[in-house]
Amino acid sequence: MAKRKKVNSPTPHWTGAKAPKLNPNQIPKHVAVVMDGNGRWAKQRGMPRTAGHEAGEAALLDMVHGAIEIGVKELSAYAFSTENWRRSPEEVKFLMEFNRQVLRKRRDEMNELGVKIVWVGREKKLWAGVLKELKQAQELTKNNKVLTLNMCVNYGGRAEMLDVAAAIAKDAVRKKIKPDSLTEKSINKYLYSPAMSDVDLFLRSSGEQRTSNFLMWQSAYAEMVFLDVLWPDADRRTLWHAIEIYAERERRFGKA
Ligand code: IPE
Ligand code: IPE
Ligand code: MG
Repeated sequence: MAKRKKVNSPTPHWTGAKAPKLNPNQIPKHVAVVMDGNGRWAKQRGMPRTAGHEAGEAALLDMVHGAIEIGVKELSAYAFSTENWRRSPEEVKFLMEFNRQVLRKRRDEMNELGVKIVWVGREKKLWAGVLKELKQAQELTKNNKVLTLNMCVNYGGRAEMLDVAAAIAKDAVRKKIKPDSLTEKSINKYLYSPAMSDVDLFLRSSGEQRTSNFLMWQSAYAEMVFLDVLWPDADRRTLWHAIEIYAERERRFGKA
């Protein structure tokens, strides 16, 4: 039998803050996070937008530790959308390079925490260096079980649906599937990450109240929480606060 890998415990928050005590059924299994507000955070300080992205790295890292502490099993981070190509070439270049560096710098720490990194997104247009780094991080961490961190880079909900539709059409032409026998479950197989569970809590920072094309299919019944904090000012306490709001919600899934 393979030797079980030793896993590091999450580092406590620097303030000594502890995760709120909630019943296990009040903890979302899968949290999706739209990490928004980096540009505004930088602008408020008279700094370039890119400084906001740099400052946002710590927020995600801290949230990973906090997610493990409270018992979240899956965290999806929206790092670059298929619409973000519309930004200036300088900012796009910065974001590609930054994502590559963060992955390289943090993958060992993530691995030691037992975090499984999964890239979720579209290959087309994504810079080769970033893709390579994503795949390496994915390979390194593939057997980890503590938390799944879906890194959504070059992700768009509509792009994903389009890619799903094209793949299904191909399989139908090849007679691998019968259109009439398609189910919601069989759609899942065609998603970028078939293993992803439905989103329970959808959290967005920066005060904007929109989904911006994030995990459309997977968030159909997610609880939405929009917080006013700008992403670089967020940390695990922001996640815990959102989970406390989530715990108060009544989820019905269409039932009376
Ligand atoms: C989110 O912050 C980061 C990415 C989209 C990559 P923004 O860059 O969107 O910051 P704001 O919304 O302009 O403040
Ligand atoms: C969503 O934020 C994308 C990411 C956080 C990666 P945006 O800042 O791009 O979204 P919009 O443009 O405000 O809708
Ligand atoms: Mg934004």
